[in-house]
Amino acid sequence: MNITTEQMRFWSPEVRELEPYTPGEQPKIQNILKLNTNENPYPPSPKVVEAVQKVLANSADVLRLYPDPDASELKQAIAKQQNVPVDTVFVGNGSDEVLAHIFKAFFVQKQPLLYPDITYSFYPVYSQFFGVKTKILPLNDDFEIVVDDYKQANGGIIITNPNAPTSIALGLSAIEEILQVNPNSVVVIDEAYVDFGAESAVKLVDKYENLVICQTTSKSRSLAGLRVGFAIAQPHLIAALEAVKNSFNSYPMDRFAIAAAVASFEDQAYFEAQNQKVIASREKLVSQLNELDFKVLPSSANFIFASLPSKDAGELASELRERGIIVRYFNKPRINQFLRITIGTDEQNQRLVDTLKNEILV
Ligand SMILES: Cc1ncc(COP(=O)(O)O)c(C=O)c1O
Repeated sequence: MNITTEQMRFWSPEVRELEPYTPGEQPKIQNILKLNTNENPYPPSPKVVEAVQKVLANSADVLRLYPDPDASELKQAIAKQQNVPVDTVFVGNGSDEVLAHIFKAFFVQKQPLLYPDITYSFYPVYSQFFGVKTKILPLNDDFEIVVDDYKQANGGIIITNPNAPTSIALGLSAIEEILQVNPNSVVVIDEAYVDFGAESAVKLVDKYENLVICQTTSKSRSLAGLRVGFAIAQPHLIAALEAVKNSFNSYPMDRFAIAAAVASFEDQAYFEAQNQKVIASREKLVSQLNELDFKVLPSSANFIFASLPSKDAGELASELRERGIIVRYFNKPRINQFLRITIGTDEQNQRLVDTLKNEILV
């Protein structure tokens, strides 16, 4: 919809200037192979489905009542699974909401927030939304974080690990180095994809009073449709997040989301088995794409970042789309010759490889 300047006079001045995030496409068409938003190709644990059904099993009357504003049962399930005290857990409506609260709670400072030039594209959006000053630090030519760049005055640091969309993981020793040289700044590690092969920094939380970990159930727990994210940090940081949350929406987690996520955290065996399947499929897909001359960055995520030197990535994305396969293409400096491809099931990945081999690269 085109809004005229005259109609915009009703908008708050700062909203007129916003540049909102553009989510990956969620097509309504059937039979499309959707490899564009890093969803899990497998359904959640059957115990999750049972738990959701149980919410209404006795009486729909529960929907008349507000849910637990603290989602304590969910915090306990996360604390148990992550092996941390419950007062170090914060939950929110998707990790995007948790990240929003993080930006408001910690990063509105005199000094700039530091993050890499290539990273989750919501960070610049939240920075603008909350009036956070930023300093963008380029990844090196191999798309890796340059740890020494994070040794300068700042009002906070946020790093995605493994990074998105590059899929490359950063080791815990590099994270510790960044934490140690920045004792007066909050360092946030966004671990949306950590369960697919990187090492989590949750184990560092009791050692560093300035560390916040953010995770989601959307990828490794197949719950993108329910919107459950969480943070782990020492209680003095959790208190700031609770203060922001209770100044914005005190009931962000509905009864279905709480019940489903609790069941998911309790079914560790299912979670581990599904993640192993995704990792195995990723390795197979990478070798098939290498055979087709793709260059694929080393991935610790449920997606890969790949380029084909002989073909323009934007054209490749369009040609795949014409054949019913959607991947993510970012028309941005440095990465406009790459495609971000979500790992599907082996069958789905084979459809991608066959389409490339037999229809596009012939
Ligand atoms: C790096 C990163 N962080 C956070 C999110 C948000 O995840 P959600 O809001 O589904 O928990 C995403 C989603 O794609 C992501 O890529």
